[in-house]
Formats: sequence, C-alpha cells, structure tokens
Amino acid sequence: MNRRVVPEKGGTGSAGVTPQGAGKPLLRALSGEASQLPPVWLMRQAGRYLPEYRELRKRVPGFLDLCFTPGLAAEATLQPVRRFGMDGAILFSDILVVAHALGDKVQFREGEGPALDPIRNVEAVRRLALDGLSERLAPVYETTARVALLLPPQTTLIGFAGGPWTVATYMVEGGASRTFAAVKHWAFADPEGFAELIERLVEATIIYLRGQIAAGAQAVQLFDSWAGVLPEPNFQRWVIAPTRRIVDALKESHPHVPIIGFPRGAGLLYRTYFRGSGVTALSLDSTVPLGIARKTLQSIGPVQGNLDPLHLMAGGAAMAESVEAIRRAFAGGPFVINLGHGVLPETPVAHVAELVALLRRPLEAS
Ligand code: CP3
Repeated sequence: MNRRVVPEKGGTGSAGVTPQGAGKPLLRALSGEASQLPPVWLMRQAGRYLPEYRELRKRVPGFLDLCFTPGLAAEATLQPVRRFGMDGAILFSDILVVAHALGDKVQFREGEGPALDPIRNVEAVRRLALDGLSERLAPVYETTARVALLLPPQTTLIGFAGGPWTVATYMVEGGASRTFAAVKHWAFADPEGFAELIERLVEATIIYLRGQIAAGAQAVQLFDSWAGVLPEPNFQRWVIAPTRRIVDALKESHPHVPIIGFPRGAGLLYRTYFRGSGVTALSLDSTVPLGIARKTLQSIGPVQGNLDPLHLMAGGAAMAESVEAIRRAFAGGPFVINLGHGVLPETPVAHVAELVALLRRPLEAS
C-alpha cells in the first residue's frame, strides 16, 4: 500500500518523479510517497568492510587513483548493490575530489586520513582554478555513465558532493581536525575573505553535480559532515546559505532530481536547515530523536536515516530493535532507511545482509 503524503505548506518534499525513474523505490520515497517496505542504502556502503573492495583497492597505489579510474570506481560502486540488492547505488568517489580538482592537492596516506595544502588566505583562494574543472573531474562523470548502464532497473544512482562548509574545513585545516580552530578563526575573523572560498566551492559544486546528473545520477546527496560545529548565525551563513545556492541552481537546471541534505550534527537546527536550504529530503544523524523527527522534520518532507553505525556493527537483536523503532516512527510518511553516518570498516558483512533482509519483511502489527 502506497500513499502520497502532502508536505506541510512551504515544504519542498514533492520532487516529482522522473519518467524513467517512475518505478524505483528510492525515487518514489524521495518524491514523497510512503511505503510499507522502505528503500535502503547506506552511506559508505562501498569500502573497506567489503573483502571485494579490499581486493580492488590493491590494484592501485592510492585511494584517489581508485576514484579517478572509471572502470575500478564503477566496480566499487556496484559491489554493495550486487551483494545486498541496495535500492541506491552511491557513486564511488570522495568529497575531496573537488578540492583536488580546484588545485588544492589531496593525499590519502594509509591510516592517516586526508592531507591537503592548507588554504588560509584570499591569495590562496584566488589560485584555485574553476577553469578546466569539468575536464579534471571527467573521470568521475565517466564512472557515473558506466554505472548508469549497468545498474538493475529498480536501483537509483546517487551522485554526491561535500557541502561547501565541510570541504572548506578540510582545505583550511589541511586535513581532519578536532577543534576546527583554523577554519573557524578565519570564518569568524575575516568573513569577507572566507566567503571567497565558500563562493568558489559553491560554484565548483554546482558544476560538479550538474556533470554527475548529466552523466546519469538520478538523485544527489550533499554531505555536510561538519555542519554541527557552528553556532547558529554562522550555521546560517556557512551551511544553509551556500546549500540554498546549490539547491536553487540544480532545481533550475534539473528540477526533477531530488537533493538529499545531510547536515550532520545540526541538532536543533535540522528544521531550520530543511526549510532554509530547500533540499528535497533530509538525512538524519543517529542523535536525532525519532518522535521529534517525525513531528517536525518528516512533516516538511522525506527523511533518511538514522541507524547508529555501531548498531550495524553490533548486529543481532539490538540492531533489529533499532531498525524497527525507526520504521515504526516514520511509517506514516516518506522515508529511506540509512545510517546516521558511514559504515565503519570493522562492520561484519553478514550484519549488512541481515539488515537488508529485515527490511524486506513487513513490520509485524503491534
Ligand atoms: O560508499 C560510499 O559512500 C561512496 C564513497 C564515499 C567515500 N567517501 C569513499 C571513501 C563517500 C560518499 C565519501 C564521503 C566522504 N569523504 C565524507 C562525507 C561522509 C563522512 O564520512 O562524513 C568525508 C568527510 C570524506 C573525506 C574522507 N575520505 C576522509 C576523512 C577519509 C579518511 C578516513 C577514512 O575513512 O579512511 C576518506 C577516505 C575514503 N573515502 C575511503 C573511502 C572508501 C577510505 C580510503 C581507502 O579505501 O583507502
């Protein structure tokens, strides 16, 4: 039984369904349809917890080589779809390829995470090159096109990019950070200068996502993994406003492609983000309470989430209970089952299979 849910006035939850995607469960949920069997995909569903990924990874020296080799990246995208029958196939790439293509060289060292040349002033921003960006990102478009040809008809191809704020955190800090001291200091002390970096990332992200959509992506997700570290006025300026610009540009060029926003850690600002950014659907981290999400977020549009990645790693009854709670909470409206953050490398493959099997069974009446 499927029924259409009318979003709250002013909401943006009715993306419409593209004719070619009319029957795909994930696109149906993202267009506002409720379903007893919710679609599922997982952030970081491709990656080190899969033995076939670890094999593939050995064929290239660096992680970015994998992202920029279409034959291998397409294979990495398809591995979890083949193994588990996920409803979504997330393009295999990384949010930092945009920084790399702008000229801020990214290196992934084994066990250390990303390392970038820190960008800390306007002169460095002005050296970032939008010219030729699409040529440098062409291998990712090629991956997208290859996957589009190979996917089962019921599976949705999801493109993605990082939110400008999150990509900026890596560029300014020069890698991962605990305190975000450098990026916050710049953003707070010299907002006009920092705005130039965000502006360039907004433009690059629009070009990049349009390229993915042109190559066959049927939905896109914006990963703003570090949205949650900003005070409210700064969140408005550095998370919501840039996201809104990207959403408006994509809606203008590709009005039927749903956009999922993931402002991880936004807490009390999730609702402000959902309304203010104009994204079609909202991806929730694991700390968002289900009752509040149902009342204040799912009333605006489709929600996605929010199983704790550690529940997936633990498996068994605790995982089953958590998934069931999510399903019961959101059953009256449109939603997508996902994690609150990415699959962890230590996750047993069998638990992912178990999760998908649970979701293919209707909920028992209680
Ligand atoms: O399966 C998928 O979800 C598609 C591929 C994907 C990757 N990264 C592959 C990857 C996606 C969607 C991402 C997003 C991403 N990348 C985010 C946003 C989501 C989040 O996790 O918060 C961020 C912040 C990054 C940046 C990044 N990439 C970091 C900090 C690291 C190092 C930490 C780590 O997990 O190793 C990466 C590396 C990375 N990206 C790997 C994979 C599979 C592991 C590297 C390897 O396999 O050698």
